[in-house]
Amino acid sequence: MGLETDKIWFDGEFVDYADATVHVLTHTLHYGLGAFEGIRCYRQQDGRSAVFRLGEHIRRLLETCHITTMDVPFDRQEIEKACLETISINGSGDFYLRPLVFMGHGEMGLGATSNDVHVAIIAWPWGAYLGDEGLQRGIRAKISSFSRHHVNSAMVKGKINGQYVNSILAKREVMTAGYDEAIMLDTEGYVSEASGENIFIVRDGKIYTTPEGSSILSGITRDTLLTLARERGYEVVEQRFTRDFIYVADEIFMTGTAAEVTPVREVDDRTIGTGEPGPMTKALQNAYFDTVKGKTGDHPEWLTIVE
Ligand SMILES: Cc1ncc(COP(=O)(O)O)c(C=O)c1O
Repeated sequence: MGLETDKIWFDGEFVDYADATVHVLTHTLHYGLGAFEGIRCYRQQDGRSAVFRLGEHIRRLLETCHITTMDVPFDRQEIEKACLETISINGSGDFYLRPLVFMGHGEMGLGATSNDVHVAIIAWPWGAYLGDEGLQRGIRAKISSFSRHHVNSAMVKGKINGQYVNSILAKREVMTAGYDEAIMLDTEGYVSEASGENIFIVRDGKIYTTPEGSSILSGITRDTLLTLARERGYEVVEQRFTRDFIYVADEIFMTGTAAEVTPVREVDDRTIGTGEPGPMTKALQNAYFDTVKGKTGDHPEWLTIVE
């Protein structure tokens, strides 16, 4: 089964879906040194398509490459332009965009530095990552037995391919047990984030989220929600919290480009609040979707129109 996409941008040119292939000796395939992004493009009120926070995503992609010492043969402007072209060549409307930087084949071993660095950009329609029902009613989460990597093992500013094995193990563990998403604790036992989302807790009218600089990916959706929440007068506290603080939350939601703003209705078999998405979660979820779809006119700087 293939993803619904026609043309893939690969090292500066468009190739057909079937031709966007790599050799089995591709270095990244063996050791996981690579960088990637997940970006969404939304159909706007006026029918045009716009990519949400493109500049911030490509900045993070290139910072991941800098952290992992991969020399990318394209600059930020070239990659941003390629992202927009990848959407327009494949159609219009809602898309998920996946820029990927990886090390090619030639030299093997951990010390290999001579392999070419490749860039691919793929766009395909991808609905609600945690399901439409999850988006509406909330998901059931479980705390995984796998800890988030220590900050001196994982490079938390980076979206590095190999680091995602940690997330996959957590996700598989809780899915096998019948839950939708894994929440991970850091190596000291404090709440870190979900397998592919940041976490927000609402208690007594205040919003809490794990601070940047801890073992979380500093999500662009997290930053968006922090901005939207503060603009609406909500008090937001960035601090570490324990797993039992989750159990006594009034509301919980998760944020991520793929998962967007997904309410959490249950954690470790404990009902959260009323068991339904709470008023602050719903208000911020609506604010988020209105913003990404250009309905409010707020933050036009976050939207790059696909011409
Ligand atoms: C581990 C992890 N945390 C958080 C996020 C959310 O980040 P963003 O909002 O930038 O998509 C993601 C998704 O990229 C992720 O993989």
